[in-house]
Amino acid sequence: MKEDPAVNPNQHPLYPLEPVEIDAVIFDLDGVITDTRCAHEAAWKQLFDEYLEEHVKAHQSGCGSFSHEDYREYLDGKPRYEGVRDFLASRHIQLPWGDPADSPEQETVCGLGNRKNHYFSQWLESHTVDTFADALDVLQRLYRAGVRTAIISASKNCEAVLANAGITDLFAVKVDGVDMAEQSLPGKPDPAIFLQAAQRLGVSPERTVVVEDALAGVKAGARGGFALVVGVNRGESGHAEALRHYGADVVTNTLTELLKDPQPGVLSAPVEEIALFREARNAVRARLRNKHIALFLDYDGTLTPIVEDYRKAQLSSTMRATISELARSCTVAVISGRDLDDVRKLVGLDQVFYAGSHGFDIAGPKGWHVELQQGKEFLPDLDAAEAGLREKLREIGGASVERKKFSIAVHYRQVASDDVLSVEEAVDRVLSEHPRLRKSSGKKVFDVKPRSHWNKGQALLWLLERCDLGGDDVVPIYIGDDTTDEDAFHVLRQAERNGGDGIGIIVGDDSGRPTLAHYALEGTDEVADFLQWLVAITATGAKG
Ligand code: BG6
Ligand code: MG
Repeated sequence: MKEDPAVNPNQHPLYPLEPVEIDAVIFDLDGVITDTRCAHEAAWKQLFDEYLEEHVKAHQSGCGSFSHEDYREYLDGKPRYEGVRDFLASRHIQLPWGDPADSPEQETVCGLGNRKNHYFSQWLESHTVDTFADALDVLQRLYRAGVRTAIISASKNCEAVLANAGITDLFAVKVDGVDMAEQSLPGKPDPAIFLQAAQRLGVSPERTVVVEDALAGVKAGARGGFALVVGVNRGESGHAEALRHYGADVVTNTLTELLKDPQPGVLSAPVEEIALFREARNAVRARLRNKHIALFLDYDGTLTPIVEDYRKAQLSSTMRATISELARSCTVAVISGRDLDDVRKLVGLDQVFYAGSHGFDIAGPKGWHVELQQGKEFLPDLDAAEAGLREKLREIGGASVERKKFSIAVHYRQVASDDVLSVEEAVDRVLSEHPRLRKSSGKKVFDVKPRSHWNKGQALLWLLERCDLGGDDVVPIYIGDDTTDEDAFHVLRQAERNGGDGIGIIVGDDSGRPTLAHYALEGTDEVADFLQWLVAITATGAKG
């Protein structure tokens, strides 16, 4: 615990944040991002007001009523049953732990926790969750600055709260009460939940910031060795001092103050504002001189135009010949959402690497093949979800379910526009039964993937490391057209901020869509020209 600094208590070398000085920010949910802290507190109050009254009647002895201070001290930020245990201990009441399956009427720690959850669920079903405007603003600015973000919550309702607020996709990583129970992670003030989020983001705590409104949360952030622990006090008297006392380095009442400059080093821009590669050719050529190029290519929409039926996206023989030529002087990998065997067959070249299923399944020249453990553990979930999706989508004309080894694509390009909503509803219904899987959206496709931090960007980094291409003499180039390719652009931006090199190139003219790419190519014809240009410059300049 820290002493209250006498003057300007918010003085800290990292505050306000300068995006180049950090890699990630981990946000608590209730009370920081969404306006749900009061609803949790009201549900706890309802439970304990009732319970303490019953207790007084049964034992003829009073133990005080439930107060806001009790909430902050014993319940806020902690997993459900740990909160019940700690509050009861403050009143010297000992109950058997019970079992998570206990009914809300049972007088056990779990039973009481379940009764509170019943009250909270009733609230959630009948209300629309508000997201704090300053939270949306800061998340957008962090994204634009290339800083990764994670959401954490001790709550098992985290996913439902995010979905209710419509902000599920805003975070690269989520660790919640369900994950904690599955992995037996201790609750805050233990830092496990934050450390797990940092690990999944692929960042170190020393370059990561924690933002919390709970006392147990700031304590956990301080214990976890994070670069900066920001306490959030949304206008509650005395809370700022308490947050500092429990370990917050600084305390703010609005997240808007978190970042130094309203437009700090903005990196992302709408696609139409990205520099066209053809206008930056000479600069890129100079950058590639005497370098080894590691070239990463998406398939659909990049090497081949998007077609009505994804099964018919054939690679042209000229494109194949160019890639084959490039593979003599550069390291070339095709990273696709398609199944590994599918994309390998479509490209048909032995000398390149392939990452299928969004990077979960990787193969290389000479029969080299690695199925990543990150994907394998999700196979039973994927099998069950595939069966559910086939069953639910059978009736919707034009919908097709494509099973890849480590993901499932639900294509709706050929579905009548009135039915698209039903496709999404069916996917959501199936996913509600498989919490270890998640949905992402691509071009006329919903991808069902393992809920894992693995993505095309992680696959790119993994390949660079495996191929010993981490040195200063290597320039990774990634070319892609879809939202899943942004993960790769993101890791290149991150490497760049850490002094590395890397070029992201977006294909197409999805006007308005924000991208982290450095340059744009207008279509697959321009990709072909670009690759031919690379052949020419690697023959004369870049290192073979
Ligand atoms: C935390 C809240 O985020 O989650 C607590 O601050 C809540 O109030 C805890 O008790 C556990 O939530 P749930 O929804 O799993 O009971
Ligand atoms: Mg909170």
